[in-house]
Amino acid sequence: MELQGKVAVVTGAASGIGLAAAERFIAEGMSVVMADIEAPLLNEQVARLQADGAAVAPFVLDVSDAAQVAALRDFAVESYGAVHLLFNNAGVGGTGKPTWKTKPAAWEWVIGVDLLGVAYGVEAFTSLMVEQGEGHIVNTASEAGLCATPMLGAYHAAKYGVVGLSETLVMELAGTGVGVSCLCPELVDTKIFESTRNAPAHLGLPKPDHVPIEMLESFMKTKAIDPAVVAGNVVDAVRSNSFWILTHEVTHARAQHRNESQQRGDTPSMLPLNGAK
Ligand SMILES: NC(=O)c1ccc[n+]([C@@H]2O[C@H](COP(=O)([O-])OP(=O)(O)OC[C@H]3O[C@@H](n4cnc5c(N)ncnc54)[C@H](O)[C@@H]3O)[C@@H](O)[C@H]2O)c1
Repeated sequence: MELQGKVAVVTGAASGIGLAAAERFIAEGMSVVMADIEAPLLNEQVARLQADGAAVAPFVLDVSDAAQVAALRDFAVESYGAVHLLFNNAGVGGTGKPTWKTKPAAWEWVIGVDLLGVAYGVEAFTSLMVEQGEGHIVNTASEAGLCATPMLGAYHAAKYGVVGLSETLVMELAGTGVGVSCLCPELVDTKIFESTRNAPAHLGLPKPDHVPIEMLESFMKTKAIDPAVVAGNVVDAVRSNSFWILTHEVTHARAQHRNESQQRGDTPSMLPLNGAK
């Protein structure tokens, strides 16, 4: 799909991968609706981009609420007349607890944002694109949707779900003119490990300072890639209508390890989580 003059909707657009993608879509000549739950930061970023002359509009929402995602679609159509590209990207990290100690509130939050948020985006936008006969949906999963590690059970459950949903969707949409991509990064330098900053207060989740993520934070500082690189990979995939977006070489080895050990009937094990690019 050509991007110049088209309309994109990006969720999770106030920070990290979503912000970098919005900036890249603008640079490609698109109009962009930037959607996020973090209103002050979203409005700040949109004002900055508008001051540079970008055609960009903010929309504050919680993607785990289907009615708010439908309202995002209506806002985008009212603002720019169509939607050609949906980047279903808003997400939150795990809570760093063993799966059997993950509380129902944490399950509800992670599955609600990371899996149902993507599902609601697909439900809200796909008919519009099929009727247009043109469009592309990029769903953000993770390497965590292809192979597992300890302490991230809810996150893995959500991201494996996004991979499965996306694989199904691309088969269902064959021949409609609507493409699907599934983004599966390993570490990217964003605020993902501070995700509980946006958790609803009633869930009582610990704020970022209290989440035991020291090891992962050190990987982030030394090994994570720039979100702008991921944004470039997304644009390439939309242009070439490629399904898999694997941003890190190491992901190929980890996915292969999982698949081969499954074929052998081995008990799951992981290759070292060394954050290698
Ligand atoms: N950073 C990584 O290493 C990495 C690796 C693999 C996958 N991912 C995925 O990339 C996506 C983007 O995350 P990021 O790394 O840029 O992190 P980030 O925290 O920098 O950005 C995530 C954005 O999503 C928004 N958000 C959170 N909950 C929301 C909700 N309920 N409704 C709407 N917006 C909400 C946040 O406010 C934030 O702006 C996520 O789906 C994440 O799981 C990240």
